[in-house]
Amino acid sequence: MAKDESAQRMEKIVSLCKRRGFIFQSSEIYGGINGFWDYGPLGVELKRNLKDFWWRRNVRERDDMAGMDGAIIMNRAVWKASGHEETFSDPMADCRICKARHRADQLPEKDGVKFCPNCGSRDLTPPRAFNLMFKSYAGPVESDDNLVYLRPETAQAMFVQFRNILDTTRQKLPFGIAQIGKAFRNEINPRNYIFRSREFEQMEIEYFCRPEDGLRLTDYWLEERLRFYDDIGIPRSKIHVKDIPDGDRAFYSKKTYDLEYEFPFGISELEGIAYRTDYDLSKHIEHSGKPLDYYDEVTKERFVPHVVEPSAGADRTALALLCEAFDEEVVTDDKGKSETRTVMRFHPRMAPIKCGIFPLLKNKPALIEAARGIVQSLRGHMNVFYDESGAIGRRYRRQDEAGTPFCVTVDFDTIGENGPEKEGTVTLRHRDSMQQERLAISDLKAYLLDKTM
Ligand code: GAP
Repeated sequence: MAKDESAQRMEKIVSLCKRRGFIFQSSEIYGGINGFWDYGPLGVELKRNLKDFWWRRNVRERDDMAGMDGAIIMNRAVWKASGHEETFSDPMADCRICKARHRADQLPEKDGVKFCPNCGSRDLTPPRAFNLMFKSYAGPVESDDNLVYLRPETAQAMFVQFRNILDTTRQKLPFGIAQIGKAFRNEINPRNYIFRSREFEQMEIEYFCRPEDGLRLTDYWLEERLRFYDDIGIPRSKIHVKDIPDGDRAFYSKKTYDLEYEFPFGISELEGIAYRTDYDLSKHIEHSGKPLDYYDEVTKERFVPHVVEPSAGADRTALALLCEAFDEEVVTDDKGKSETRTVMRFHPRMAPIKCGIFPLLKNKPALIEAARGIVQSLRGHMNVFYDESGAIGRRYRRQDEAGTPFCVTVDFDTIGENGPEKEGTVTLRHRDSMQQERLAISDLKAYLLDKTM
């Protein structure tokens, strides 16, 4: 896709997200705040469907996984042990002319010289390390003793609770701990919409294993995660797997795959799958003095487990879902009139609304009553939307933009006004093909559950 075309596509996605209530700028009425976003009524459903499916696939459907939900603020010692306090930084450079601050490793270059993307000046300070962790104080006294950080990743809680989870679940290796939760990074340059924000959500797994299984399980998790993306409507063909070469990986990692998606602004990271050896547990053993090792009752060995970490971003995946779903097509009606239809082609499993339910006319109580009855029978099983305003074609278009895979129209046949033949049936309209079919109301729930779960 040409650069202008990609930029235009991204602009259209951002504008649809605001117009339809997927994503808003945080604190918008006060001018917003850079790097923070709010999910609106449709966005929150999309993200919830994503997180719920991740949880179902990785926790509920497996015997070898335990979930947890850790606190955002942890003892500062955790971040000393993990190395975050010392090294979790990005290089920062200031422009001496316009005073803008930039990620030094992302500055544009001309003739081999870096320049300020804000004012074009080449007068920049040398790069210096900027720690990305947000600071606060626990309690009323703002002293060094009370300094705390908002967690920059969810992972550490799973390492420091390793012993408790092992003891309470009595799992045997290999087994994993999974967590979904907020993480915070004071990014120097938040950018590309929700792609790089300062507050975001991660969906992380720490999968503990015997040392000799680490490499094999890294490949196993790569396949599992690709399957997951396929199952939410992000095909393998759109994901680029980058095998990070020696020297570019963290020194303790024996293998790392980055899963990258073709966003309109470029191919960028969705998830990292890192074989982190025994680095994290060993560091916490060293700093806490607590026994975070494992006793293998079969081999009678005691050792520190190794770990494979598939770490995904919920917001980045939500953005990939939005980008993948966005489509525009020219459609021509019966009278030969053409218009552009904007349609979000979400996988039905991810769609914020599963079914739109419309009475054909709003001034006919029997139609409204029948439509309301359908809403009642489906609510509690899935998210549905009732709409009685405007022409039916407009209502379909509104649901196309929301990405609703199915719409049901209650008409005079439904209520038996045209005879008993089609009584109790509705028109089911498919979002992608715009094809319509007749379905019995009694079959609707099972049909929709089968297609959208
Ligand atoms: N525990 C490992 C870890 O945190 P990471 O590569 O720094 O690894 C994992 O982050 C994932 O979290 C990324 O692949 C991305 O999806 C998401 N992520 C990281 N920083 C982010 C940011 N500033 N905004 C949105 N998502 C982010």
